[in-house]
Amino acid sequence: MTGNLVMAIDAGGFKQAMSRWASGVTVVTAQYDGVRHGMTVSSFASVSLDPPLVMVCIGKAAPTHDTIRKGERFVVNVLAETQEEISIRFATKHEDRFEGVALRTGQLGVPIIEGCLAAIECRLHETLPGGDHTIFVGEVVRADVADGSPLIYFQGGHRKTA
Ligand SMILES: Cc1cc2nc3c(=O)[nH]c(=O)nc-3n(C[C@H](O)[C@H](O)[C@H](O)COP(=O)(O)O)c2cc1C
Repeated sequence: MTGNLVMAIDAGGFKQAMSRWASGVTVVTAQYDGVRHGMTVSSFASVSLDPPLVMVCIGKAAPTHDTIRKGERFVVNVLAETQEEISIRFATKHEDRFEGVALRTGQLGVPIIEGCLAAIECRLHETLPGGDHTIFVGEVVRADVADGSPLIYFQGGHRKTA
């Protein structure tokens, strides 16, 4: 590392520090009462092996947030490097983000995006407070996987491994 840049923790400094954390990119999908929602999420992690638990942190204002809370299920679609457009689409305003996206319905009745590296189907296990976000812990009931390279997010931009 060249140079030690010390920043006070204001919102900008916090965002800059977090932007140095390279992550994969997912789209979290949920459905309740016939209405589907989905959004791009990078705050995804494995929590436990037994039982198999994962977590995502979702902003409280996002429609996906209440859809997960009410439907008590969600899918983590792990994006491939070819799916940058999907990442952008599910992070920006659209009348229907799912329109024109190839989908199938998973075991829990939640839409799954075709062409992802993994589709991880979860039943809501626990809901934890996380500031202006909620930490949703899901129990994995099914996971489909495919080969390919991941889409990466780093310093405010989408990246590829090579
Ligand atoms: C790469 C990337 C990662 C993101 N990760 C998260 C996340 O982990 N949690 C979150 O609440 N929002 C995250 N967002 C922002 C949401 O996707 C975005 O605010 C959301 O789609 C807003 O639209 P909505 O409220 O209409 O659903 C991320 C955006 C991008 C581009």
